[in-house]
Amino acid sequence: MSSKTWTAVDDYIVSSLFEADPVLDAVIKANRDQGLPAIDVSAAQGKLLSLLVRIRGARNVLEVGTLGGYSTIWMARGLPADGRIVTLELDPHHAKVARSNFERAGVADKVDLRLGPALQSLGALDSEKAGPFDLIFIDADKPNNANYLSLAMRLSCSGTVIICDNVIRDGEVIRQDGRDPYVEGARAAFSFISSDKRLDGTAIQTVGAKGYDGFAIAIVD
Ligand code: SAH
Ligand code: DHB
Ligand code: MG
Repeated sequence: MSSKTWTAVDDYIVSSLFEADPVLDAVIKANRDQGLPAIDVSAAQGKLLSLLVRIRGARNVLEVGTLGGYSTIWMARGLPADGRIVTLELDPHHAKVARSNFERAGVADKVDLRLGPALQSLGALDSEKAGPFDLIFIDADKPNNANYLSLAMRLSCSGTVIICDNVIRDGEVIRQDGRDPYVEGARAAFSFISSDKRLDGTAIQTVGAKGYDGFAIAIVD
């Protein structure tokens, strides 16, 4: 089996289970046309995020790492009418593209995009008591994973679901030489979840159009 098969099977999942979605196609096109890196979640993963929002019954969602807002839009679609999602992005160009995508997708009224370093924005959210969030998706600069998880805990309550993307990285997560800060970030997510007694979690390896990677998922006691 090869990445060609993984991509073909992802296409099969999307074509057999999802309605045609010209809006999301336009969002991905805008992201590529505007030069954003092709690191948005896949459609199948985006749908999973949307389902998790619904399964949790989340009304208050937090995302760290917006890019062009593709994952944000999937999660926004899982929210009830009065739900909202706060999404944090460092890069002003990414934020600008994301804002226009939120308009395009008709979710702008549900999305609060905060521009700046996420560590700072998370601190501000804590100060203004914007939490607790029902579901938190961490998908930004991987070396900060432990910091994001730690701040996420301050913005959580019992039952909060925390998802951390890209924790497998082609299996490099088991490499222990400490040379790659991204791999160390993935390992940091594992050690955080195992050491914080309030968290109960697992990680799932994934293959698909985005290659071989995976996500961690945990619930706050
Ligand atoms: N969740 C998006 C992908 C996010 S890619 C999706 O699936 O569609 C990671 C994003 O994190 C990039 O846009 C990058 O600019 C942003 N980022 C990197 N460092 C950051 C920081 N310190 N604070 C906030 N965002 C950051
Ligand atoms: C990278 C970041 C991501 O969020 C992702 O899903 C894939 C790759 C990266 O920075 O390489
Ligand atoms: Mg990611």
